[in-house]
Amino acid sequence: MKKLFNIILVAVAMVGCGTAPTTMPTVTGEPFPDTDGNHINAHGGGIISHDGTYYWYGEHRGDGTPGAGQEGVMCYSSKDLHNWDNRGIVLATSDEEGSPLEKGGIIERPKVVYNPATGKFVMWFHHELKGRGYGAAQAGVAVADNPLGPFTLLHTGRVNPGVYPVNFAEDNKGKVWSDTLQWWTPEWYKAIDEGMFTVRDLDGGQMARDMTLYVDDDGTAYHIYSSEDNLTLQIAELDSTYTRHTGKYIRIFPGGHNEAPALFKHDGSYWMIASGCTGWEPNEARLMRADSIMGEWTRLPNPCRGEGADKTFGGQSTYVMDLNGELTFMADKWNPKNLADSRHLWLPVRFDKDGIPYITMEELPAE
Ligand code: GAL
Repeated sequence: MKKLFNIILVAVAMVGCGTAPTTMPTVTGEPFPDTDGNHINAHGGGIISHDGTYYWYGEHRGDGTPGAGQEGVMCYSSKDLHNWDNRGIVLATSDEEGSPLEKGGIIERPKVVYNPATGKFVMWFHHELKGRGYGAAQAGVAVADNPLGPFTLLHTGRVNPGVYPVNFAEDNKGKVWSDTLQWWTPEWYKAIDEGMFTVRDLDGGQMARDMTLYVDDDGTAYHIYSSEDNLTLQIAELDSTYTRHTGKYIRIFPGGHNEAPALFKHDGSYWMIASGCTGWEPNEARLMRADSIMGEWTRLPNPCRGEGADKTFGGQSTYVMDLNGELTFMADKWNPKNLADSRHLWLPVRFDKDGIPYITMEELPAE
């Protein structure tokens, strides 16, 4: 009887071996249809896996009609990462006047993480208020009991008001810089480096635009965002609920103009890919590395290689998907004339002989 049981076990294992493992598709900017045949309207987003299903969250960018506003954050779900079902809007903008999510505002770069301690799905996003362009520079936080939502807005605002970054020089706390400094001069860059804008925004909280989330192996989550007029990245630790900042945060690459951060870990190193600041136009990607997420971070050369590398192959980073150690660089090829038709770039992250990650359009895996 025991022998028969063992044979059955081996047979089950062999059947298991025969099933193709889930792989990330390679996507090179062609339309990416959902299971209804419509191009996937989820931009600046990211993917999580939960209970055997993948959830892709991203910006809804209207229906292609010029001037059509954002309906909110879209979600698509998939069992195999290739076929995506449209699950609709999971965080909705509001028709109510004065509501923080009133239509006409902006929701960008939504990222969702699951918090096992609270059982909640927590979404963070770059949030701008109606009628204020990109001036509010806020972080919005919404939660849901279910990955398909609905997500409820908890709060939206600037980051860590009244708190200095942990890597801020004592001498520069409360410093007053000359208000006649001309932008882009060496004196002005020096002041930015010292923290002129950190101090400017101290009371109201730090600006937060392009952003991502990262949950470390120890379960600590971080909010990584472009701050200080998009000049400087900040990395802020989140509390155990993932819904608030703890007050512990750092500034990195002051004056470096980094946007669109995407983080991943490989062989004990933290890596970040980001873009420069040229709006919807593509630019050369940046690569950074650290031993600890709270720094020191160092900058490396452009991670893109081969033809098109100087413009990130027409895309801008949004996320690095880690599928059991297989990494995929996800980027948006923006179409500012019709943002809903912005295309997706999903390219494998490879490592060279020195262990440096790189991305290329050459030698793509066959689909
Ligand atoms: C980009 C940014 C996008 C969006 C755009 C607006 O630099 O990464 O998320 O904000 O600017 O022009």
